[in-house]
Amino acid sequence: MEKGQLLYEGKAKRLYSTNEEGILWLEYKDSATAFNGEKKASIDGKGQLNNLITSLLFDKLKEQGIDSHFVQKLSDHEQLVRHVEIIPIEVVVRNVAAGSLAKRIGLEEGQPLKQTIVEWYYKDDDLGDPLINEDHIAILSLAQPKELPILREKALEINQILTGFFNNIGVDLIDFKLEFGRAKDGSILLADEISPDTCRLWDSKTKQRLDKDVFRRDLGSLKDAYQTVFTRLGGVSS
Ligand code: C5P
Repeated sequence: MEKGQLLYEGKAKRLYSTNEEGILWLEYKDSATAFNGEKKASIDGKGQLNNLITSLLFDKLKEQGIDSHFVQKLSDHEQLVRHVEIIPIEVVVRNVAAGSLAKRIGLEEGQPLKQTIVEWYYKDDDLGDPLINEDHIAILSLAQPKELPILREKALEINQILTGFFNNIGVDLIDFKLEFGRAKDGSILLADEISPDTCRLWDSKTKQRLDKDVFRRDLGSLKDAYQTVFTRLGGVSS
């Protein structure tokens, strides 16, 4: 497999073509950003840990019947993925009040929610990824009406599986963001990444933050937090 030209560069990853039809080369960067890019840093080893954690979680999800764009890990900071057309909706699932939800509707951070919440955000950096509803999605033609129940159902199923994985290693899955894409055969696949960049993960006993809030809120070493998640998941660094 050969790496081709750069197709897209985002805040945390670069995407390249390959010489194989329908397969792309994804490279995780060490950059950390928060507040829509207003806060920036380069953290040695972050890209590697996110790649290792995402690869491990996508493999575990696959064993539970959840298909994703993930094909294989290539190196510590690279993976091969299937080419999909990303649906420009960030699907956020919440089990416990935190972050923007706690702020928006006046809940105390850490308060368990009576029921799991699924939210849609418009994936648009210029607009700051605003919260949207199903009518907004319809007028912007971001997804077909029949796709939304599929996204919701998949997101809830993934939540159940991930909550179980994390419970087993003494970590509470507070909330997380997913992205989905349309494959050539018409199926909807889980895409992007699942890592401490995209999840809130708290130590079940101490409530220590093991996710990007460490960077957002200056709570200590981000790399140590991500390494803790990887090690607890059973990962071994090469
Ligand atoms: O900031 P907020 O509370 O809305 O974030 C909810 C969850 O979605 C958090 O786990 C956060 O890390 C994740 N998220 C993300 N990318 C974004 C926005 C939120 O991964 N652009």
